[in-house]
Amino acid sequence: MARPAPALVGIGVSRTDAPLKLTGAAKYIDDYRLPGCLYAATLRTAIARGRIKKITFDPAFPWQQYAVARAADIPGLNSVLFIEQDQPLLTEDQVMHPMQPILIVGHPDRARAYAALKHITVEYEEEPPVLSLEDSLAKKRLIRGEDNVIKKFLIEKGSLDEGFSRADRIVEGEYRVPHQEQAYIENHGIAAWVEADGTIVAHGSLQCPYYVHKALVKIFGRPPEQIRVINAFTGGAFGGKEDYPSLIAGHAALLALKTGKPVKLIYDRAEDMAATTKRHPALIKHRTGVSADGRLLAQDITVLMDGGAFATCSGVVLSRGTLHATGPYECPNTRVRACVLATNTPPNGAFRGFGVPQAIFAAELQMEKIAAALGIDSVELRRRNAWKVGSITSTGQELKESVGASKCLELCVKKARYEKKRKAYARWNRDAGKPTWRGIGLSLCHHGAGFTGSGEVTLASRAAVSLTKDGRIKVLAASTDLGQGANTVFTQIAAQALGLPAALIQVEVPDTSLVPNSGPTVASRTTMVIGRLVERAAQQLKEELLKASGRVPQDRAGLKRAATLLCEGQPARRFEVQYEKPADITWDDDLYRGEAYGVFSYAAVAVDLEVDRLTYEIKLRRVCTAQDIGKAINPSLAKGQIMGGTNQALGWALLEHADFRGGWMRNSQLTNYLIPTFVDTPPMDVFLVEEPYSRGPYGAKGLGEMPMDLPAPAVVAAVHDATGFWFHAIPVRPEDLCAEFLKAQRPL
Ligand code: MOS
Repeated sequence: MARPAPALVGIGVSRTDAPLKLTGAAKYIDDYRLPGCLYAATLRTAIARGRIKKITFDPAFPWQQYAVARAADIPGLNSVLFIEQDQPLLTEDQVMHPMQPILIVGHPDRARAYAALKHITVEYEEEPPVLSLEDSLAKKRLIRGEDNVIKKFLIEKGSLDEGFSRADRIVEGEYRVPHQEQAYIENHGIAAWVEADGTIVAHGSLQCPYYVHKALVKIFGRPPEQIRVINAFTGGAFGGKEDYPSLIAGHAALLALKTGKPVKLIYDRAEDMAATTKRHPALIKHRTGVSADGRLLAQDITVLMDGGAFATCSGVVLSRGTLHATGPYECPNTRVRACVLATNTPPNGAFRGFGVPQAIFAAELQMEKIAAALGIDSVELRRRNAWKVGSITSTGQELKESVGASKCLELCVKKARYEKKRKAYARWNRDAGKPTWRGIGLSLCHHGAGFTGSGEVTLASRAAVSLTKDGRIKVLAASTDLGQGANTVFTQIAAQALGLPAALIQVEVPDTSLVPNSGPTVASRTTMVIGRLVERAAQQLKEELLKASGRVPQDRAGLKRAATLLCEGQPARRFEVQYEKPADITWDDDLYRGEAYGVFSYAAVAVDLEVDRLTYEIKLRRVCTAQDIGKAINPSLAKGQIMGGTNQALGWALLEHADFRGGWMRNSQLTNYLIPTFVDTPPMDVFLVEEPYSRGPYGAKGLGEMPMDLPAPAVVAAVHDATGFWFHAIPVRPEDLCAEFLKAQRPL
């Protein structure tokens, strides 16, 4: 009898897509040759707000060689159905932001398609735009409803009056964070065509095949089975491919339907960055009442976010920001008031962290301010207030298990040698002969994994494992591998559950005609929620295999023999399972009370940096982080995700600046929108903390977004430790530091 397969969960096996990517065999959407295909280019609005009066096609231009698709060609709804229906697929009349799509031009030669756009003139009747949060809040100009509000939330617990009346100190702070570009390696791109039987197919770079599917059903007014969406290899997404692919797929499919030819719509970097979503800028205010010994007694928080021109997922980003606004700290009396407002800029959308980086930036710097006001160390302040098992969150959720906040904090403090460095750097900074100032800063955060509140119940996600009659085992899920390693993790989970080598497991391509709706690949939910479904489905298959042959056959031939019994003449036997809500989870959407998330993940980070005393350049010396993710299914991939997310956050804190003027991003290129390169990347020490979650597969919790949530406030705290200046906004660049030194008239 064959030896049982070695354990796979918890082992850093190499990724299943590595050979394909290393040899170049993996195909991204622009790698596909589509005979007779047209390349599409998008004509976009050139103003921020107003009306389109007239569109003129140059009469001297050979338009007969080109195809054009316009709003009038849309067979169904001219709207991109997501959470709301406010965003048109193509603008007919009202202009809400620059770069809004008006029409699509196609030509067999891509450069000529783009060149043709210059032969179309659009005349506008301009109206004054709303370009900032302050502008929108002032309501002088209304661009959405009666108050420019996209969505609002209120969370209340206890009594603020009582909390503040018992407080020894009241500390106030105001914090601001900017846009951020997702900067995935592969730009947006979709190819679309119409099959002989009339099925509309969209194939491309996307996070959520069923989101695109749902939007296309409405746009084309077709039954769901006549729309098929397929995920190609996708070169990163980070939230940026959650909603916008629905527009691109709609545009490409519209031109395909009109011409009967396949259509490729691939953005270049400048168009991608200027037209598609960014992280929501936010303005967050804290007023905190504390006791002299550093207990939080009252937290009054307001969160304002800039949603841009259309709702996209702004309401849910705000919801998550609201729910994380307090930080992972106990406080008996809290109020969080939150609002996302419309502006005449391209819509902001999902980006790794999804409202939490904004919330944690403010919450963690507020902890620094409180510590300074009380004269205690900020690590000690965190220690005294951090959530533990039994803590109650702002929504009244009791934390029953898997609370690794303190473990992460203590491990990070120890491994970063935080206390020792604080003292050593204070000495270093007093020595005027040194070329730099040095500092170390720390932050702590939580991240609720999975959809918020009743979200997972509404999604009712499904996943399946099947055995084909030729003895192959397939994992069927709509979750996409964006480079984060979902396919490898699914393979490990299924193999472990079945007790089989990984080589016998295949993960099916996320294609809506082949896989069930597992919901979107967002919200750090893929491993924890869908991974658990894969585990359950694999267990069902295992039981049937045991019933049929008394054991799980350990090779393809054995599986094929078992399949003749299990498949009963069908091509495959499929075991499909659906998400089931744990009985003790309740959520009230009206009051915003209850179990906001099944569980939270936790992380602490320490950023060690130095500032050049002549140039104010900031050099990251070392970053140390400890992250409680329940269980690392694949520790190598988990650490890779943590390093990548940390770097993305360091970029947001130190380098990235989306230069919006007049509603436009003026620096929509990677030459002038700076993101970290390897040269900017510090040495990183990553420590995994595993506080298992009873409902995650093998104890796993969410991981993908959390690394992005917490480094920015740690950078600001480290800059303060080095220079004595507090920043309440990011990025902190040499010129920003220089301005502070000049203002303070401290010697250069
Ligand atoms: Mo994600 S930022 O939840 O796509």
